[in-house]
Amino acid sequence: MEVLADVQNTILLKVESYKTETLNTRENFGSKVGAVLAAAGSAVGLGNVWRFPIETGRNGGAAFILVYIACIIVIGLPVMMSEFLIGRSTQSNTARAYQKLAPGTPWRWVGRLGVFTAFFIMCYYGVIAGWTIGYAVLAVGNQFAGKTAADYGPMFSDYATNWWQPLLCMVAFVVLTHVVIVKGVTKGIERWSKVLMPMLFILVLVLVFCSVTLPNAGAGIDFLLKPDWSKVDGSVVLSAMGQAFFSLSLGMGCLCTYASYFDKKTSHGKTAIQVCVIDTLIALMAGFIIFPAVSSVGYSLDPKDVGANLIFITLPNVFQQAFSGVPWLAYIFSVMFYLLIIVAALTSTISLHEVVTSYMAEEFNMPRKKAALWETGGIIFFGIFCSLSFGVLDGVRIFGLNIFDFFDWTASKICLPVGGLFISLFTGWYLDKKLFKDEITNYGSSRAPYVKALIFVLRYVAPIAIFTILLNELGVLSLLGS
Ligand code: PHE
Repeated sequence: MEVLADVQNTILLKVESYKTETLNTRENFGSKVGAVLAAAGSAVGLGNVWRFPIETGRNGGAAFILVYIACIIVIGLPVMMSEFLIGRSTQSNTARAYQKLAPGTPWRWVGRLGVFTAFFIMCYYGVIAGWTIGYAVLAVGNQFAGKTAADYGPMFSDYATNWWQPLLCMVAFVVLTHVVIVKGVTKGIERWSKVLMPMLFILVLVLVFCSVTLPNAGAGIDFLLKPDWSKVDGSVVLSAMGQAFFSLSLGMGCLCTYASYFDKKTSHGKTAIQVCVIDTLIALMAGFIIFPAVSSVGYSLDPKDVGANLIFITLPNVFQQAFSGVPWLAYIFSVMFYLLIIVAALTSTISLHEVVTSYMAEEFNMPRKKAALWETGGIIFFGIFCSLSFGVLDGVRIFGLNIFDFFDWTASKICLPVGGLFISLFTGWYLDKKLFKDEITNYGSSRAPYVKALIFVLRYVAPIAIFTILLNELGVLSLLGS
């Protein structure tokens, strides 16, 4: 029976790839650079510029960074390669990919979960991304100048609780994403990634340079470079793993969808390494923008100062104070910083949007434009509730959380780890190992001596690690510990 199912699978895959090759119904990324930049664009986002510095601050600086890098190498890379090979071998949206590789089995729900997660993340991610547009507008209007440290907190809460401004910015962000998506894979996603990613890199480099050359930047630099191992415990390791998943866009089909546009020559191993390196570099550089600037104005690097409102409350003040002698530099630094976050977030929202758009277009046989329109409408609809939950809808609670936190919690704390867990189990245990090896070696054209180690990690290490994160998120570990 099993042999029959294998043969049936192989035939199905061959027929599909024949169809895509001859009928050319599906677009591919036009170049390897385009593919890498698009995938790196998905990975680099608010997770690098906003979440990474917060997590680093909370978990003790340099030691956290080293644990984080270890998590990326041991778990992030293998799971990323799994998503790549699932996507490219099936050349379809993430839901259909599992259907093709495991017809008639419940594995198809892993793909569907990915589509659902992408939609869910997009609804609340768009709100924060929208705030960055709002703050960029404030920066351009020089609204941060002449304020004292105490003014920035109320300024932010006025902004976030105001009902129409954040809403408008969220809609603007989602529409911006929509415009790129309707252009298609090559002319939209790839072209924009090729423009936005280098732009992001230049912005980051300039800002790092300005920040590390500030007077008294040393304490911030030390914080990032001198590990204090006494701070590392189990919860730090789990935070590092959670951050690695979020930052690399793992566990929900974004990378699987992008890999379905990879051509046959793209190497999964090389691409995954390049994406991980770019993502980690940008996160580190965001740290080198933020911590030296914070220490240069004499703030402690205490978790409360680098808390969740870091980029909207602490930083505008830091920029003004750090460059107080040269107001035009403070102005440029602020504008560039918010522009940088917009660019980073945009390349991520594009990838989230694409997961659902390609799913709807291919599964419901819709023109791409129409699928994208439905998706954009849905995001804006739910995004409105997420946005208003900071103001008028604050009282509405779902399982004790406000609407925004409920979306965030469900997607990033539950759906991403569950998705990641099943992806590693799927490739580690279920997937035909010949197909696995063929994909990793590009059908024999390159060598991959690490295949066995990869399978070992996907079978045992990644599932156990991810399952532990999940238990931790659900509070089961602390219950056991108490
Ligand atoms: N990786 C993105 C970031 O760092 C967030 C993201 C998560 C994007 C999951 C897509 C999927 O901001």
